[in-house]
Amino acid sequence: MSQPTTEEAPSKPTKKTANDYAFGKLLGEGSFSNVYLAKDVKAQREYAIKVCDKMHIIREKKAELIQREKQVMTIISHHRSDVAPFFVNLYATFQDSERLYFVMTYAPSGELLKLLNFHKTFNKETCRFYAGEILQALIHLHNLKIVHRDLKPENILLNEFGHVLITDFGSAKIMSSNEKADLPEPEKSNSDDPTSNKQSRKNSFVGTAQYVSPEVLQGKYSIVGPPADLWAFGCVIYQFLTGSSPFNGPNEYLIFQKIIKINYDFPPDFDSEAKDIVENLLRLEPGERLGSRDTDRYTSIKSHEFFHGIDFDVLHKQDPPSFD
Ligand code: ADE
Repeated sequence: MSQPTTEEAPSKPTKKTANDYAFGKLLGEGSFSNVYLAKDVKAQREYAIKVCDKMHIIREKKAELIQREKQVMTIISHHRSDVAPFFVNLYATFQDSERLYFVMTYAPSGELLKLLNFHKTFNKETCRFYAGEILQALIHLHNLKIVHRDLKPENILLNEFGHVLITDFGSAKIMSSNEKADLPEPEKSNSDDPTSNKQSRKNSFVGTAQYVSPEVLQGKYSIVGPPADLWAFGCVIYQFLTGSSPFNGPNEYLIFQKIIKINYDFPPDFDSEAKDIVENLLRLEPGERLGSRDTDRYTSIKSHEFFHGIDFDVLHKQDPPSFD
């Protein structure tokens, strides 16, 4: 009989703890979480750590959302793309008695919104660069069967070289494989008023008022798919070129009314190719949005004249536009 071995079975790598990091400045504040700059003490590497208050999450019944965010970030981090490395990755998670911690990529150049607000608007070349990187990110995300559902310039960060890093997957949805979520079937509803069907709106509203798609707003679809992100993509292109989102108003109700009526205007000097792409993304019917019926995701957007000359596969290796 063999002697019992003193060797231990290989153990799982030990979990990180908050003591492994030196916490620095506050990078962002959410309703139940804060994001801090933090340095891995041993590796001397910087991260952004999202710290969530457990009590607050339980009180606000947000546990499922946090779980989904972790699940989505884990999928994205395990499926990194060579041609679309445009996501904040998740490196580790851990918890203590009061808090949950998400160790994520630090984006030193901050929010794209701040860059846009600083310059007021982007010229066409700058817009094409950032929109091209965002499109590459959406192709990768949708191929992974993930819909972001809260795409907006605040959720688009920039790495040290000025390339796009999409973040905040707290509203994201994973499409189950039997869901035909690319083009969902409409549910029976006669109402055009987003406030008339309180139940469906309560169930379906995710995202930020200005960028939310009509189908999400009206609760017309039990399944919201990739076209919801194509709608937000159209809003973002419009915002890059004008400095403000297309649907604005003094309150959410008035913004929603404008969205469901597709009530927005282009300034007279708005580029005609950009106008065509935006008009074709901001379509009421999800299935009519440019790209939504592509078999090879999103060839019809990539081949639109607005993007003429852009080599999408090398954007991540190019120098971002300069502003002088
Ligand atoms: N603010 C929120 N998340 C961030 C991140 N990952 N990097 C930099 N700033 C952030």
